[in-house]
Amino acid sequence: MHTVAVLSLKGGVGKTTVVLGLASAAMRKGARTLVVDLDPQCNATASLEPEATTAGLSDVLANPTADTVTRAIAASSWGEDVDVLVGSEDAEIHNGRREDVENGLGTLTEALAELPHDEEGPPYQLVLLDCPPSLGRLTRSALIAADRALLVTEPTIFAVSGVQRAFEAVQAERTANNPRLQPLGVVVNRIRARSQEHQFRVEELRDIFGPLVMPVALPDRLAVQQAQGACVPIHQWGTPGAREVALAFNLLLARTLRAGRSRSVAEEDETDDEWE
Ligand SMILES: Nc1ncnc2c1ncn2[C@@H]1O[C@H](COP(=O)(O)OP(=O)(O)OP(=O)(O)O)[C@@H](O)[C@H]1O
Ligand SMILES: [Mg+2]
Repeated sequence: MHTVAVLSLKGGVGKTTVVLGLASAAMRKGARTLVVDLDPQCNATASLEPEATTAGLSDVLANPTADTVTRAIAASSWGEDVDVLVGSEDAEIHNGRREDVENGLGTLTEALAELPHDEEGPPYQLVLLDCPPSLGRLTRSALIAADRALLVTEPTIFAVSGVQRAFEAVQAERTANNPRLQPLGVVVNRIRARSQEHQFRVEELRDIFGPLVMPVALPDRLAVQQAQGACVPIHQWGTPGAREVALAFNLLLARTLRAGRSRSVAEEDETDDEWE
């Protein structure tokens, strides 16, 4: 099971879109996925339309028992390969400043350890943590629970400073609390190939962050908003724009899963058409 925190310093840059796109790509591969909606806005939950639950993220963070975790998870409307640990609007209370700053940051980790197991381990191959738009307590708890961190940015003038601060947050959590955490890098979202400004900003990011900028960028396509609005996986939307975005998510999923594996295994994957 891989647990990937998807985060950014800024709001509205595409965290939820990346979580949904990776879940859609994983579903196409038949890899069972759990989306954990850490954002009090609950956008991922809204787009995945899970069945009703008797608990949500707030209950899980208040009481991370197997029973609460099970009650907070439901199948999404996409099908049985994608489940949701549903968000809570009142999860904001877990995000604010507290006197005991470090206390409670491990609760999400405890909760994920309570996912149902059978002889083969937990039922999910991929757990995606959709973070709120800040580097507050909820995002920090995601960085402690995850083994991979994926940053998202748009190709704008403020991208460099935002990415820098997000990388620092990942590094700080890795050093202080979670040595397993691998920074996967930053994925640039909403790119328009013909925009010179976008090309300039991507080059700027590459100059500063080198290989930490993912070679695959996500194109700006109306299909993303259409598919999300219709609560349909991007891989099933079927327009040329959707196919372009879906392909980018296949590549991003392959890189996400490949991280940290040995070079020889990575090379084997490269010959696997299904993955690429
Ligand atoms: N590649 C894209 N092409 C077109 N529209 C996009 C793309 N990526 C994101 N959007 C749209 O931009 C809006 C914001 O995206 P999204 O909700 O994924 O951002 P977010 O970082 O999760 O926001 P928040 O910080 O509020 O949680 C949404 O309406 C989404 O459909
Ligand atoms: Mg979001």
